[in-house]
Amino acid sequence: MTALDVLPKDLLKGKTAFVTGGGSGINLGIAKAFAATGANVAICGRTESKLEVAAAELRALGAKVSISVADVRDAAAVVAAVEKTQAELGTIDTMVCGAAGNFNAPAEIMSPNGFRTVIDIDLIGSFNAARAAFEQLKQTRGNLLFVSAGQAYTPIKFQAHAGAAKAGVENLMKNLALEWGAYGIRSNSIVPGPIADTEGLERLSQPAGKEAWLRSVPLGRFGAIEEVAAMAVVLSSPIAAYVTGSQVVVDGGFALPGWGAITQAAEDAMAAGATS
Ligand code: HXC
Repeated sequence: MTALDVLPKDLLKGKTAFVTGGGSGINLGIAKAFAATGANVAICGRTESKLEVAAAELRALGAKVSISVADVRDAAAVVAAVEKTQAELGTIDTMVCGAAGNFNAPAEIMSPNGFRTVIDIDLIGSFNAARAAFEQLKQTRGNLLFVSAGQAYTPIKFQAHAGAAKAGVENLMKNLALEWGAYGIRSNSIVPGPIADTEGLERLSQPAGKEAWLRSVPLGRFGAIEEVAAMAVVLSSPIAAYVTGSQVVVDGGFALPGWGAITQAAEDAMAAGATS
């Protein structure tokens, strides 16, 4: 049984969710969870072939699906995607700002364009999606959900760009909760920890290695995509009707011991010649 199995299959029946970066990874998992609980789902991303494969998986779960090739850095493309969604599926109830990019790089060798690229995707892209969805969310009294990361509040070496971006995302989330609460729009973030079978874990766990990461998880295992996705559904459902401006951490306790042991393992590996 997964975390999703305990949720009512019709919890989000009649709702429309839009997930940026929904073609793969945790974002696709979130899109599937919306589909599995009755919502129709729109996804956008940069690669059409990935979106088509994902759309087939979502349709198999019973959802009506809309796909748009749109890079979240392109505000006009995101606006077009949310308008297409309204025409094809109905007015958006939930905007999931999930698209993200990341790599490990020591700050002293990170190029300004590398730093800017991650800020553009994670932070500016999240604003673009939230802003584009505003008029529809106002009509539905819907909600925003930002996919954040622990780097937002605990710095980790080689993540200067992503930490700054996600800290900005968290602040944006709270600002929009403050400003758009008047329209009945809720705004929250979900903070995944180390989740198995994700590109994030594959990328970020190097060069320290996955064993070093596992040792830092109090629950003693990596999370499942479904465990993050189920929380995304809960936060977007009437169960969370009075929850706004909140960061919900789904990390098995990973943040509690801090990043010290992992940082040391990464430094040791890099000193031994590993590359990120
Ligand atoms: C140093 C790097 C680099 C690396 C890219 N750059 N990879 N610098 N080390 N490993 C630099 C490039 O040299 C370039 O700078 C600039 O970043 C832009 O690179 P592009 O490849 O031109 O950008 P783009 O094609 O737009 O790709 C964006 C990307 C890429 C983020 C760099 O990795 C990507 O598309 N990722 C999407 C998928 C992804 O990252 N998934 C993991 C998400 S994990 P110069 O100066 O040379 O022009 C995740 C969860 C954890 O987000 C979140 C934690 C906060």
